[in-house]
Order: sequence, then structure tokens, then C-alpha cells
Amino acid sequence: MKFKPPNSLLFFVNLGFFKIAMAKTVQLHDKTFETYISEAEILAAIGEMAERMNRDFEGKTPIFLGVLNGAFMFHADLVRHFNGPCEVGFVRYGSYVGTESTGEVVQLLGLDTAWLRDREVIILEDIVDTGNTVERILSDFESAGLKRPFIATLFYKPEAFQKDYKVDYVAMEIPNAFIVGYGLDYDGLGRNLPDVYQIVETQ
Ligand code: IMP
Ligand code: MG
Repeated sequence: MKFKPPNSLLFFVNLGFFKIAMAKTVQLHDKTFETYISEAEILAAIGEMAERMNRDFEGKTPIFLGVLNGAFMFHADLVRHFNGPCEVGFVRYGSYVGTESTGEVVQLLGLDTAWLRDREVIILEDIVDTGNTVERILSDFESAGLKRPFIATLFYKPEAFQKDYKVDYVAMEIPNAFIVGYGLDYDGLGRNLPDVYQIVETQ
């Protein structure tokens, strides 16, 4: 799904005769973020992705492997819409400091290779940005002698992507702006927000 949101999601506040349109903002550390994609839109896009997976993995028992921390909400909502038998697990990688990717990806929680061997594994990422993290996961699978996992991401920034591997499932394509909410953070904060917010660029 290609998501083309208005600049900000507007909330209508009723003041007697007047209806005032305003974007909801949140302050996280030193930065302000404004509403961008609603929880309902996110859940609809995840539902569509789950439909595709229900068809593609019919008769199989895939493992949904979420990338911590960012993918925890996406993981929970996606597997709830998967109809067949499946298993769940997590890996943990890190690369971001503040609003910038450091380019160096570190593995913080390793792969259980005995469990993953010969299985259909679907990596669940919150967002594919430069593509470094998923590239590292693909290379860790290869070094461990595992077959290539499928890659599924909630958000994908095509303008920032610098790799040439295939991202198998994308719920929403977004422009190259820093976002928080629905699992995504700015220096640890914002993961609990049900909607997605984008950074206000005048800072
Ligand atoms: P990549 O390695 O550059 O593809 O970035 C992937 C990781 O960076 C994601 O798993 C996120 O944790 C983080 N990230 C990338 N873009 C954003 C963003 O807009 N907001 C919050 N975190 C982000
Ligand atoms: Mg992060």
C-alpha cells in the first residue's frame, strides 16, 4: 500500500459554532512530532498484509521473527490476523542514535539456529530505512547456514533504501521523514503511541 497522507492528520475540535482543525502534537525529548498516520490506517494495512500471508503460507507453519524493539506492536497485530498454525520469536539489532542511522548494525540478541533450520521464517521489521539492518539479518542467516528468510516490514522508505535485496512484504511506503509511534522510537520514547507521528521539520 502506498500511503499518501495529508501533511498532518487533522483533529476537529468543536467550540460552539466553530470547528477548529488541528494536528495533535507530542513532545519527545527536544523534538516535536505531529500526527501523521492513524492507528486505523495502520491496522488496515497490516490486515491486507496478513491476507497475502494467509494465501502464501497456507498449509505451512511459518515462524514470525520480530526485530526488537521496534516491531513488537506490528508483530502482535500481524500474527493475530494469521489464520494458520505458526510460531513466534524475536531477534534484536540496533543501529540508530537519535534520528540518524549510525550505519553500523549490532546484533543484541542472537539467532536460535537449531530452531530456525529448514523452516519458513518471516522477519518482521518496523521500518526499512537505509536497509542496513535487514542486510545484516540476511547475512547472519547465510553465515548460520539457514535458508533466506522472507522480509516483511510495516513501513518502507524507498528514497532512503540503498540496497538491492527484495523486501517481500511492505504494508506502507512512506516519504523519507523521521517517524515515531506504534513501536517506533526517538531515543527510547514514543513506542507506546497508538498512532504514528512525524517530526516537525522546523526544529
Ligand atoms: P535501517 O537499518 O537504516 O534500514 O533502519 C532500520 C532501523 O532503524 C529500524 O529497525 C528502526 O529501529 C530504525 N529507524 C529507521 N527509520 C526510523 C524512523 O523514521 N523512526 C524511528 N526509527 C527508525
Ligand atoms: Mg529504533
